[in-house]
Amino acid sequence: MTLTANLPDFDELIDRRGTHSAKWDKMEALYGVSPADGLPMWVADMDFRPPACVTKAVQDMLDVGIYGYFGDDRAYLEAITWWHRTRNNWEVDPSWIFTTHGLVNGTALCIEAFTAPGDGVVLFTPVYHAFFRVIEASGREVVQCPLVNRDGRYEMDFDAYDAMMTGSEKMLVLCSPHNPGGRVWTQEELTALAAFAKRHDLILVSDEIHGDLVFPGQTHIPMACAAPEISDRLVMMTATTKTFNIAGAHLGNVIIPDPALRDRFGKVTAGLGISPNAFGLHMATAAYSPEGAAWVDALMAYLDGNRAVFDAAIDAIPGLRSMRLEGTYLAWVDFSGTGMEEAEIKRRILEEAQIAVNYGQTFGEGGRDFMRFNLATPRARVEEACARMQRAFGDLQ
Ligand SMILES: Cc1ncc(COP(=O)(O)O)c(C=O)c1O
Repeated sequence: MTLTANLPDFDELIDRRGTHSAKWDKMEALYGVSPADGLPMWVADMDFRPPACVTKAVQDMLDVGIYGYFGDDRAYLEAITWWHRTRNNWEVDPSWIFTTHGLVNGTALCIEAFTAPGDGVVLFTPVYHAFFRVIEASGREVVQCPLVNRDGRYEMDFDAYDAMMTGSEKMLVLCSPHNPGGRVWTQEELTALAAFAKRHDLILVSDEIHGDLVFPGQTHIPMACAAPEISDRLVMMTATTKTFNIAGAHLGNVIIPDPALRDRFGKVTAGLGISPNAFGLHMATAAYSPEGAAWVDALMAYLDGNRAVFDAAIDAIPGLRSMRLEGTYLAWVDFSGTGMEEAEIKRRILEEAQIAVNYGQTFGEGGRDFMRFNLATPRARVEEACARMQRAFGDLQ
């Protein structure tokens, strides 16, 4: 796809150092990698500006210069319903939508609303590390159902999961598309998953924060469309933040078609006084628009190029293998073929290559031999990271 004039130049190297960017400005404290010449490829945050319409929405607020309470959310709700209708063929009723402080918050609120201390919450591992944190911190048990790595592609194994269920599990958190590994789950897989949730009487929370970030040729199917037969046990979660790189807005949508579940969730949000900030609402309203849609299409075409460059370079290093992402910009590299200890792999990546990555073991069972690399950065940085990796693991050539 060719970029049109009003789309950003994804190749532009923007210096984010000293801007309170977690990705750049916490890297040294967390990893010992200096932002002077280090490459941050960890947290899922992109080094790109959002679409111009989002920046304009903030600029319009700055022009008025008064930052009072937000009111009249009709345009915001309409933008959400428009987006899901046009992008995902999913009809959302505005009355189903709750706005939370992001989707980690959304997950935590679901845990509070739909489970009790001591209950089990099912995760398909390896999976996004913050799920473990919120489940454990709220006194619930993480039940890890390991994904099967079949020739470098994750799959679910429901026979095995059926055998693991004890009856104390009350909720399941699905990551769709999956982080890490980038699977875009198929209709068949989602149908089987819905049947599994029904068999074990689980509330299914579908975190679809990466749902817009699928590569050309892939189709993300919202769980609500894939399995309408479980709408009485389904909670959908979507967000503009990952899609448009506005995670600092801390905003997420928890969309609940079932009135009884909505009532339980609404009591929890009311009890905790959850109400989102105006900046996020203005940005999200602007983002869910035709301009935002064109930007996402251009973004995914660009990231497809980054993925191709990265996979080719990493796979050329003996012992390393990068999973073929179907969605997300989070490359998932298997180091098991090197036979190295984790400490040595980390030493080479952090100290020799000067790259900050997410450690696979933090994603739960099955993550141990992996490292996650964030590819949402200008191509030149991805190429530089590849060259550094090839030098750091050069003795394996
Ligand atoms: C699956 C998943 N859920 C949630 C989040 C973070 O959500 P938020 O910033 O809205 O809390 C991430 C961030 O990478 C993620 O990968």
